[in-house]
Amino acid sequence: MAIMKYISLIIVLVVVLVTPQAEAQVVPSIPPIGVVTVLNVTGVVGCSLNGSINPSPPFPYAVVDLTCGGIVIAFNTTNLSGAFTILLTPVQTSSALSYGACKVVVYTPLAKCNATLPSTGTLKAPVQIVRSTIIGLLNTLFAVPTGPFNLLG
Ligand SMILES: *[C@@H]1O[C@H](CO)[C@@H](O)[C@H](O)[C@H]1NC(C)=O
Ligand SMILES: *[C@@H]1O[C@H](CO)[C@@H](O)[C@H](O)[C@H]1NC(C)=O
Ligand SMILES: *[C@@H]1O[C@H](CO)[C@@H](O)[C@H](O)[C@H]1NC(C)=O
Ligand SMILES: *[C@@H]1O[C@H](CO)[C@@H](O)[C@H](O)[C@H]1NC(C)=O
Ligand SMILES: *[C@@H]1O[C@H](CO)[C@@H](O)[C@H](O)[C@H]1NC(C)=O
Repeated sequence: MAIMKYISLIIVLVVVLVTPQAEAQVVPSIPPIGVVTVLNVTGVVGCSLNGSINPSPPFPYAVVDLTCGGIVIAFNTTNLSGAFTILLTPVQTSSALSYGACKVVVYTPLAKCNATLPSTGTLKAPVQIVRSTIIGLLNTLFAVPTGPFNLLG
């Protein structure tokens, strides 16, 4: 009996220790039949060489492309706060997931928000899926830029 309790305790500890890691991985799981999956990419673009709004002002009305495998999947425009949302259709989502290597690319040159900043090159940042929710038959994957943008030719 004592040894059974000991083994049970070990199993409980293993489950407790392993579960948070498994949750943190956020690899899109294969959803049940009938569920559609959409990717929702959000972020904020600042008017600076690293695209940060801290301490720079936001970059309003900037066109932001979502590219995956170097192919433009969809785009949207930042609002006055520099925030953008790119919500993919299920078809675009399946392309994005199969191409992989998704990035947000700020198509509008930085000089548009500040004439002293470069008029060539584009701000780019890789994006990563950070969480997902399944509500009814809709599986939404939420993705954000992984860090600061880089100005690349
Ligand atoms: C997209 O994600 C943003 C940030 O999490 C959220 O505010 C917005 O409601 C989401 N839109 C949809 C349609 O899921
Ligand atoms: C972005 O650049 C500014 C200077 O323009 C700097 O103060 C800030 O710390 C940088 N932010 C990040 C996230 O690298
Ligand atoms: C821009 O969009 C963000 C995220 O949806 C929102 O929180 C913010 O209030 C919007 N800013 C303006 C000026 O509309
Ligand atoms: C573009 O952004 C607006 C405002 O956030 C949002 O309502 C719309 O669904 C977005 N369109 C796409 C294609 O993501
Ligand atoms: C424009 O960019 C320059 C160079 O980075 C910076 O010194 C200046 O503060 C910026 N102006 C505004 C209004 O953000």
